[in-house]
Amino acid sequence: MSRKFYITTPIYYVNARPHIGHAYTTIACDTIARRQRLLGAETFFLTGTDEHGQKIERAAQAAGKTPQQYADEISAEFRQLWKRMGISNDDFIRTTEERHKKRVQELFRQIRDNGYIYKGTYTGQYCVSDELYVDGAQPGDPCPTCGRITETVHEENYFFKLSAFQDKLLALYANPEFIRPEARRNEVISFVRSGLRDQSISRSTFTWGIPVPDDPKHVIYVWFDALANYLTAIGYGSSHPGAQEAFKKFWPADVQMIGKEIVRFHCVYWPAFLMAAGLPEPKTIVAHGWLLFEESKMSKSRGNIVRTETILDVLGSDALRYFLLREVVFGQDGSFSFDALVQRYNSDLANGLGNLASRTLTMISRYFNGEVPYPSHASKTAADDAIAEVARRTIREFGALFDQFQFSRALEAAWALVAAVDKYIVENEPWALGEKRDEESRSRLATVLYTAAEALRIATALAYPVIPDATAKIWVQMGLGDIKKLALSDLGWGQLRLATKLGDIQPVFPRADKSAIERMQKMEEEQRGPVAETPAAPAQANAPQLAPGAPAATNEKISIEDFAKIELRVGLVKVAERVPKADKLLRLEIDIGTEVRQVLAGIAEAYAPETLIGRKVVIVANLAPRKLRGMESNGMIVAASLEGGKPVLAGFLEDVPAGARLK
Ligand code: MSP
Repeated sequence: MSRKFYITTPIYYVNARPHIGHAYTTIACDTIARRQRLLGAETFFLTGTDEHGQKIERAAQAAGKTPQQYADEISAEFRQLWKRMGISNDDFIRTTEERHKKRVQELFRQIRDNGYIYKGTYTGQYCVSDELYVDGAQPGDPCPTCGRITETVHEENYFFKLSAFQDKLLALYANPEFIRPEARRNEVISFVRSGLRDQSISRSTFTWGIPVPDDPKHVIYVWFDALANYLTAIGYGSSHPGAQEAFKKFWPADVQMIGKEIVRFHCVYWPAFLMAAGLPEPKTIVAHGWLLFEESKMSKSRGNIVRTETILDVLGSDALRYFLLREVVFGQDGSFSFDALVQRYNSDLANGLGNLASRTLTMISRYFNGEVPYPSHASKTAADDAIAEVARRTIREFGALFDQFQFSRALEAAWALVAAVDKYIVENEPWALGEKRDEESRSRLATVLYTAAEALRIATALAYPVIPDATAKIWVQMGLGDIKKLALSDLGWGQLRLATKLGDIQPVFPRADKSAIERMQKMEEEQRGPVAETPAAPAQANAPQLAPGAPAATNEKISIEDFAKIELRVGLVKVAERVPKADKLLRLEIDIGTEVRQVLAGIAEAYAPETLIGRKVVIVANLAPRKLRGMESNGMIVAASLEGGKPVLAGFLEDVPAGARLK
């Protein structure tokens, strides 16, 4: 019976369209899943979307949609994108599916029956953006993860007895394989050592979630619901024998891949929930770092995302996959830039593997009629043996590094083989041998081209999980058929069959020129639209965010569609305070109906903070956030600007509700 392998991505929130930060997690998992399939494991690769909770409910409201409509649309975007990228997931779970909802309730029931759930009252701070209860925070405190102001929650909830699992969790972390990399493991250990409080696992002040069994006034906390996907997708809690079989076969998961910001949910709450349900924990949880763009984490709220589609349109999916896994040291943060992407593409793919494939196969075509030639013992040199040795070592090293999630080092090793063969070709000058007609030269030419082709085959086989499209093409060009049928565990030197007939030879990675960078940048700028691209921002970088009054008069007219892009809303000032060491600046917390925003405004010289509390203002709600004095400003207040720059806030004569849109 074959070995099984179960790997999962986190499930993606549907409040944001997919960007390359999301693609990063998915690509890493896809690569691992593909390698495992070639190693003969019965592989199950799961991904999906996380669709419940207050964050999604509010985002849907703001978009004027029902949460279900909203979730349907964005979930479909994730599915389409993964399909376009050829992601090889075996299932895609949505938390709004019936199968999931029923099975989550089953898990809740099981844990309750085991005595780990009780009813109580929660009073404390909550971050809707991270769907996180922030222990020990006071009203007005920011979320420790995202910096947004937390909201006060006071509600009857169900609690999970997390405090009962401290010792068991610490015992689990004694296994160094459970949390990787080591730095994350250490963080988790010190967090758990400092003591665990029971955790609220239901909410009762909104409805967009899975009802608590036997008490439908409550919905299950979105993280409990979401984490359970790893079980529900493979059949947990189903009465269907097929599903039960699948669950027995695949659980516990072999690898659960996550980003570093969700380590606590996965490494503390998740194993505790499993222990409470009497289920085994996953074997390994691997946390990767963040993809940064313009020096901060790429995310919708920062407005600095890069869409995957742009890269797919210009360079293709393999280029992105290779870049992310080669350039970013797995586990650490890594910067994305179009320049670096194109540079890597050209140096490693177009000039590296792509060039090696085309020159080797073209010469076999030209000199040996498109059939893999016979190497001869008589014409063998130490240089040929050296290449065979490098190839053997690369197979070993690549496997060891890759299976330790050290993708960039594994790829470095594989590309060192490509570079060694390039050098070998240059030194052995097959083109010169090809011009000669004598037996000896011909026999030497056969040996050199066989050696190059065999090394190419090995590099291609190793690279397949990372660049599946291009390697599949090279495989066909080498006359080897379907690369998915390759048995990676048997990969060794000398298996390339003599007289194999090559297929049609085409370049797999055409070189990209400078215009590729410009095209991608332009596509992204167009997507961001005029508001985000040229915000009506004050001239100095550090100036407070306050809408300027009358624009410098221009005759240029904008369309109603342009105007509609600016989301103006009524906001209610909840908190206003001076910012230390900034004479002009006030820090405001403004309720815009769907959420409370922190806005920094340069109005301190015109308004005393206490006069603003309870006042209705107009806020530009969809302005990309920016940092001022180390704090995030999330929106801009609209004011008339009088002579001398004195601001006068816009307001209303009639009463208007917070959140109302200005049109
Ligand atoms: N819904 C939760 C996960 C629930 S799993 C039971 C969630 N979703 S998310 O959409 O915000 O993030 C999903 C994954 O995308 C995470 O692993 C996260 O780290 C990853 N990324 C999102 N933006 C990212 C970057 N800029 N860089 C790298 N990965 C990032 O969290």
